[in-house]
Amino acid sequence: MKRRIVVFTGAGVSADSGIATFRDADGLWANYRVEDVCTPEALKNNRAQVIEFYNLRRRESLTKRPNAGHLAIAEMEQWADVTVITQNVDNLHEQAGSTRVVHLHGELMKLRSERNPDLIYDIGEGWEQKLDARAEDGALLRPHIVFFGESVPMFDTACRIVASADVLVVIGTSLAVYPAASLVYYVRDRKVPIYLVDPGNPDTAMIRNPLTHIKERGAVGVPQLIERLKNEFAE
Ligand code: OAD
Repeated sequence: MKRRIVVFTGAGVSADSGIATFRDADGLWANYRVEDVCTPEALKNNRAQVIEFYNLRRRESLTKRPNAGHLAIAEMEQWADVTVITQNVDNLHEQAGSTRVVHLHGELMKLRSERNPDLIYDIGEGWEQKLDARAEDGALLRPHIVFFGESVPMFDTACRIVASADVLVVIGTSLAVYPAASLVYYVRDRKVPIYLVDPGNPDTAMIRNPLTHIKERGAVGVPQLIERLKNEFAE
């Protein structure tokens, strides 16, 4: 039986592809206020600014490609049963070839109806959401992004996936945003090993499982870690 490896990623896994993280010194939240671009109130009161923010992110993401970290995660499917749970809204895991990817905070390349959250559309060619674009129910479209203050619809699914893990790999996340960060507590029991690849110091104070922190950037540390896991777990 293949080992079940769950990979939980944050903005850091895409940093080596040239996409800014949020909370590092050069991160997005150093240049934008969350409350201006990433809340339901902002969408209501300042729609143009919110749509513009995500149009910029989308346009930028079209030029980005997976790095060695994304590629190593995808290749792991050859010998392990892998699911990726990402907080990222880019599609670099999919571009790298990962076949099971759960997006906790939504997807940049999708839009949805403001009225009916089940009416979700691929943006199609290009990057631009027009301000007055509407869904087929007549409501305005909005980015398919989980804003601060909104619930995280994929969280329960993600918890079940983490609970099934034989090994949990956490990459490039400050573990500062909840409920996403709490996923690390949903492992089946205290024996499940947790590996962390992050050049910084994510908030791991509450983790009681055996924890190995590889203090490297993703494009270097992830392939190293996965080679090590392969030697240990591949059959
Ligand atoms: P953060 O910006 O909070 O954290 C980024 C993490 O990546 C930090 O721990 C860095 O040390 C690490 N990092 C930086 N460069 C790296 C590199 N080259 N390789 C690997 N790791 C690197 O980003 P997240 O934890 O993903 O939510 O943030 C969580 C959520 O907050 C995001 O999904 C987003 C944001 O607000 C929404 O937009 C809803």
